[in-house]
Amino acid sequence: MKIIEVHNYDQLSKKACEIIEEQVMVKHDSVLGLATGSTPLGTYKELIAGYKEGRTDYRHVSTLNLDEYVGLGPQDPQSYRHFMNEQFFRSINVNLENTYIPNGKAVDLQDECERYEKVIEQVGPPDLQLLGIGENGHIGFNEPGTPFQSETHVVQLADSTRQANARFFQSMEDVPTMAVTMGIRSILKSKKIVLLASGERKAQAIDQLINGYLDEQFPASSLKEHSDITLIVDEDAYAEV
Ligand code: GLP
Repeated sequence: MKIIEVHNYDQLSKKACEIIEEQVMVKHDSVLGLATGSTPLGTYKELIAGYKEGRTDYRHVSTLNLDEYVGLGPQDPQSYRHFMNEQFFRSINVNLENTYIPNGKAVDLQDECERYEKVIEQVGPPDLQLLGIGENGHIGFNEPGTPFQSETHVVQLADSTRQANARFFQSMEDVPTMAVTMGIRSILKSKKIVLLASGERKAQAIDQLINGYLDEQFPASSLKEHSDITLIVDEDAYAEV
């Protein structure tokens, strides 16, 4: 694992942006695997600035997002589709038809998982997958105990994950209890993975990622099996290593 330690969130966002811009410049029709949560927000801001300055062109880029809450659709402000449209897609010239996110409103969720896994196969795998990490080591919405061989599936969200994400909702009851997520195996298919971690909230997870063993109770440890992973981490998140 390549580790890039930076001082703060601002530098982390700039570094991640640099790596993604290079990917898009080298390969105009790159497939980008994208993530939600607060960590990549700064990266998206930097990428938008780069686009506006004419450094990048997303016309031929496709994107594949990791996950979506069950029950939320594009009109729901807390859905990941809404998040991606507002925080990134709307401000660059990507063709929205080439941006893929699981459908949290699908009537048959099992069919939706199978459909999305096929999309990953047809469109992807991503040339570069951007990832955040949950405090309990989840990646996407793959909670502790998820088999490393898992593909896109429906998950019951851990209480700790619902609590951590409750800040985006009006009340705890509004936080969905389920999500559709790419599986760990699906994520590991990406050619290159860039994992971001910022702030002391993530310090324990980063310590476990770097110093711990492969363990299905700690989903991010699966990343140790990948041959091209870069961790960009700020001082606070690196404090316990
Ligand atoms: C959610 C997302 C993950 C994300 C995690 C951490 O659970 N499904 O993809 O990595 O939150 O979020 P944050 O960056 O806000 O700490």
